[in-house]
Order: sequence, then C-alpha cells, then structure tokens
Amino acid sequence: MNSQTTQHPALDAGKIHNLALRNRYVVAPMSRASAGEDGVPTSEMAAYYARFAQGGYGLIIAEGAYTDTILAQSYGNQPGMCTDAHAHGWKATVDAVHAAGGKIILQLIHAGAVSQVVDTPHAPSPVRPDGMMLQGYGPKQGAYPVPVPLSDHQIAETKAGFVMAALRAERAGFDGVEVHCANGYLLDQFLTPETNSRTAPYGGSLQNRIRLTCEIIAEIRAVTGQDFATGVRLSQAKATQPDYFWQGGLKDAAVIFDAVHLAGAAFIHLASEIKGYTYHSRTKQGESLTKLARMRTGLPVIANGGLQDPQLARDIMSAGEADFVSVGKSALVNPDLPQKIAAGQTPVEFSFDVFSHGVSLAGQAQWQAAQIG
Ligand SMILES: Cc1cc2nc3c(=O)[nH]c(=O)nc-3n(C[C@H](O)[C@H](O)[C@H](O)COP(=O)(O)O)c2cc1C
Repeated sequence: MNSQTTQHPALDAGKIHNLALRNRYVVAPMSRASAGEDGVPTSEMAAYYARFAQGGYGLIIAEGAYTDTILAQSYGNQPGMCTDAHAHGWKATVDAVHAAGGKIILQLIHAGAVSQVVDTPHAPSPVRPDGMMLQGYGPKQGAYPVPVPLSDHQIAETKAGFVMAALRAERAGFDGVEVHCANGYLLDQFLTPETNSRTAPYGGSLQNRIRLTCEIIAEIRAVTGQDFATGVRLSQAKATQPDYFWQGGLKDAAVIFDAVHLAGAAFIHLASEIKGYTYHSRTKQGESLTKLARMRTGLPVIANGGLQDPQLARDIMSAGEADFVSVGKSALVNPDLPQKIAAGQTPVEFSFDVFSHGVSLAGQAQWQAAQIG
C-alpha cells in the first residue's frame, strides 16, 4: 500500500480508557535527568513536554518518576512524585501539555536493585544485576551491588508509595499513570525468575511473580477516579540484558497479560528498548506478543521500538499487532513527528550524538547549539 495516498493508521483518533486521543502517536517515557536535586520538575521540563503536544502527539508518557524517597530513586536529577513540591512542579508540565491540546500520563518507577542513587539498594532477592550502571546517568557508576531482600513491611511500603504517587499525579492533573514493570526495574525484578527466588505470595509461580504489579494496579484503580487511566509497561528485555526473553514464550505472556487485565489495567505498553519492536516484542519463535495482548485482553496496546518508521508502524497496525505506537529517541529530533507523517515528510534520523553532551535537556540544548553554530 502506498503510504502517501492513504492516511496513516497512527493518525486516526483513538481512545484509552475514557481518554479521547487525537491520534495514535505516543511519546515513550524517557528519563532525562533534568529535575532539581530534590526531584522537583523544572519549567524547562514543562516546555520540553509541551513541545510534543504542539507537534501533534496524541499522548505523552512522561519519564519514570520515583515513588518514594527511601529506596525508589534510579538516577540523580530524576523527577519524583512523592512530595507536594514534586506534584507542584509536575503541574506546570501537565498544564502546558493540556494547553497545547495534548494528554499526559506519568510513568511511576521503582529502581529496586538497579538504583544508581541509593546506598543499599533493595530488591526481591539478593541477586546482583547483570551489566554495569548506565553511563550518562549518575551519581554512581560501575558494577551494581548485591541488593538486600525487601521485607514484607517494605513491600507494603513500596506498594503504598506507588498508590500515593498515583494520587498525587491525579491531583496534579495527569490523565493517568503507567506502572513500570519493564526493563529490569523493581517490578520486573519480581517478575523475572532469575532475580526473584522468594516464595509465595510474591515469588514462585508466574502468578505470584506478577502479583505485586497487579496489586499496585488494583489499588491505584480503587483510589483514583473513574476517568483516570492506569496502565502498565512490560518488556522482555532488561536495560542491561537486551537478549532476555520470557522463558515460557506465549504461554507466559498469556498469564502476564491476563493478570494485569484482571487487576484493572487500562492499557498495556510493551517496551522494546534496544533492538526494536520486531526483536523484543516477539517470542524467540517470532510470534507477536502485542497481538496476543490485544486478542486476550481487548485492551488498547501500545507497541514500541523503532516505530518512527512509518511503514513498520503501518504494517504492525494493519496486522492487528498494535492500537498505538510509542516513539522514544526519534521524538527527540522529531517533536512534530505526527505532523511530518501527515504531511508525507521523512522524519529526521536520530543519532546518539544527541546525547554527546549528556542525556539531560541542557545536554541536548548544547548539542543543538553546536549543530547551528
Ligand atoms: C534517554 C532515554 C531514557 C529512557 N527512559 C525510560 C524511562 O524512564 N522509562 C521507560 O520505561 N523507558 C525508558 N526508555 C526507553 C524508551 O521508552 C523506549 O522504550 C526506547 O527508547 C525504544 O523506543 P525507540 O526505538 O522509539 O527509541 C528510555 C530511552 C531513552 C533513549
């Protein structure tokens, strides 16, 4: 099919929960390490997020915000959502996005074992994460320490942190939250058998390993308003283990999707961070996980990974593999991607040079200035 003559399916209006969206292009959550030392979002962040709304994206999922001040923080200058000052700071972003006609959901994240901030990281089990701390993010670098197992009491506190953060997000005006159970962070550490050697209720069977995520989703749903969209982000790969696949393939995926659906998730977002959609969002045998998620749950499913490519996005949407497509890196150089696609223009190609002065917004501005200068 000629993509020039038929409107791209990602430009059709869509709906997530009760949220009417002008199109199916979503900005993927991207940590930019640009908040204050205390995790308070800045006015630069408000302008950065508003730019995507001005550029036509139907939905923005804002970068992972930490959910408590004790164990959850991943990076230095990461925004939080656990104090009134955090919520107040975020409100400027929410208002700016809404004023530009966009919708915005906040991702809620707990680092667990992969914190680069916490002195004694806590996790499901004492398993040292593979790989090294992420460069470009601080303050710590090097190998991850062996984490301390969370006590039952700390698990309850972790849950309460997510729920309180969701309430703050709702009060700040966000249209919903995305519970981060992907890429090797805390909730994914519970889901993954190699990092979870606990017994019931949060270890052992797959049902037990996804339980904490489900309880968090259900509790957020119970305390937030009817129109507030609470979804979940899942992934096979981890930030430091790009070749990780769910052991049981489609069988495991079915259990996971059914569980989050039953818990009340309003959408499922599958991350495909490093090698792209066709690698990470399929089983080793090549079966589509996003299609399975759609078929089993009937929920809106957001696909991710290199989907700035209009033909790939069109192909997977036409094949029933996605309702929405989220765009990460490419959105940084194409904050107006939906408008470009509508006009039949080719998106600017992303290069990691964008991060040559750091992943922060200030770093990107410096890179941009060097391009012009
Ligand atoms: C700078 C940067 C920061 C990211 N931060 C997050 C994050 O906070 N939460 C998350 O779930 N994924 C995060 N990701 C992953 C992206 O959401 C996305 O899954 C990934 O970039 C693949 O999509 P793309 O091919 O469109 O870039 C980040 C990616 C980048 C490049």
